[in-house]
Amino acid sequence: MADAGVSAFAMELMPRITRAQVMDVLSSQANLAGYRAVIEGAEAFGRAFPMMMTAAGTIPAAKVFVMGVGVAGLQAIATARRLGAIVTATDVRPATKEQVESLGAKFLAVEDEEFKNAQTAGGYAKEMSKEYQAKQAQLTAEHIKKQDIVITTALIPGRPAPKLVSGEMVKSMKPGSVLVDLAVERGGNVEGARPGEVVETDGIKIVGYTNVAGRVAASASSLYARNLFSFIETMVDKASKVLAVNWDDELVKATALTKDGAVIHPNFQPK
Ligand code: NAI
Repeated sequence: MADAGVSAFAMELMPRITRAQVMDVLSSQANLAGYRAVIEGAEAFGRAFPMMMTAAGTIPAAKVFVMGVGVAGLQAIATARRLGAIVTATDVRPATKEQVESLGAKFLAVEDEEFKNAQTAGGYAKEMSKEYQAKQAQLTAEHIKKQDIVITTALIPGRPAPKLVSGEMVKSMKPGSVLVDLAVERGGNVEGARPGEVVETDGIKIVGYTNVAGRVAASASSLYARNLFSFIETMVDKASKVLAVNWDDELVKATALTKDGAVIHPNFQPK
């Protein structure tokens, strides 16, 4: 509840426009979560990531599959590549294909008519049809069998996370394999993932940590602080240095929850 004169803003509602990039908390935190997901996966995986040819024998490169190539997924791909893994990735938005390939990973997806139109004007994914989901599951099931690490980051705005990895697909993996589900707080992409836990069945681990960016706490705080500072800077009058909120500013309109004790955000009006 807000007292008279007190206003509350929701940083996660910041529009993803050029001017607000420096205030984009979703991106600053998702980027770190994507990085950390790979570190968690590597930790839970009892083997090395890079191929190593030694006198005592050869260690094969780990195979990492990233599902969902938004901000977190792109950083996961880059991180797994730096560690020496063989990386593949999938998404339903066609724009991601080129991004995946430019990071040196291989793209895998059902590229039909529906795929060509899966991106909304806002740059997000749509919920896919049942038919598409079935085709997607068939394609990825064959692929997941051969993977060592699967990292899932798939989200759809305003909907539960899409179910991408069934219990059967998990079971098809080799003992020692690891799945890291970054979508676990929104219902999870992996069947059997539990928020805040590492579930192990038949030697396969499903890592379901929540607030993964918080596991790189100092970096997360420093980027978040910069996001906040940049936003507050826009609310301070340059000459007098006093707080002067412009309630007509699109960034303020998009994020302001309360003003003078009343809830003003259109998304949170009583029905
Ligand atoms: P997100 O966190 O909402 O979703 C993660 C990823 O999951 C997305 O790439 C989405 O396409 C994918 N996904 C959804 N359903 C799926 C399914 N069934 N199978 C596989 N993948 C699925 O996305 P995030 O990270 O917030 O980024 C969304 C878009 O916004 C990206 O294009 C990103 O580049 C863009 N963006 C633009 C910014 C700007 O212009 N200022 C800033 C940040 C992001």
